[in-house]
Amino acid sequence: MKIDVFTLFPGWFEWFAEQRHVRNAVALGHGLAAVDLRSTTPLRAGQVDDTPYGGGAGMVIRVDVVEAALRARWDADPVEGRGPRRVVALAASGRLFDDALASELAAEDEVALLCGRYEGFDERVHEHLATDVVSIGPYVLAGGELAAMVVCDAVLRKLPGALGHESSAVEESFSPALEGAPEYPHYTRPAQWRGHGVPAVLSSGDHARVRAWRLERSRERAGPR
Ligand SMILES: C[S@@+](CC[C@H](N)C(=O)[O-])C[C@H]1O[C@@H](n2cnc3c(N)ncnc32)[C@H](O)[C@@H]1O
Repeated sequence: MKIDVFTLFPGWFEWFAEQRHVRNAVALGHGLAAVDLRSTTPLRAGQVDDTPYGGGAGMVIRVDVVEAALRARWDADPVEGRGPRRVVALAASGRLFDDALASELAAEDEVALLCGRYEGFDERVHEHLATDVVSIGPYVLAGGELAAMVVCDAVLRKLPGALGHESSAVEESFSPALEGAPEYPHYTRPAQWRGHGVPAVLSSGDHARVRAWRLERSRERAGPR
């Protein structure tokens, strides 16, 4: 798959691109690129934002600026060009990002992530350029870059081979293997730490009992359904 992150701060992604699972994904033929929204702005002096209609504090990222960036990247009209692509605008007010959406995005060929700043995007970006408006949680960040990294991280680690050890991504929190529940607790050495031991079943060597214990803990953590 190919992920393009449209941002006013492409430099933020240099560190991210160096991380192991991201490098693994790229080595497997997947792509991650940070695209500078300012580099294709049709406005003078690199302007990308404007004052809000109706007044109020802050600036709003213009729809024509986002359109120009997508058009330059795709060499196509971005309203029509959305068709085969997932275009995710990051916004605190959007649909909450979860494991199911991460799996959905990981199955796409092309995903574009739009990082807002200031007061966010002109609403017409959400309505006519994006296919999804996504929030990573009920709080407000200074910009969409960290949210985009959260999405990229969760999506890229789902790609076969990205983690280097396949089973880890199969049975973990919220996966179908755990019926969508949070993962069970893990323990490692030392067996005793400050008077706190490890559940005996985990050292029993009885794989069926270990499996049953883990599923039970996982269901417990999910709470009543
Ligand atoms: C300062 S925020 C804008 C906040 C907006 N005025 C509001 O009240 O919802 C600037 C940008 O950060 C990103 N952002 C902030 N919080 C986010 C969240 N919880 N999830 C995803 N993106 C977020 C969005 O891209 C947003 O356009």
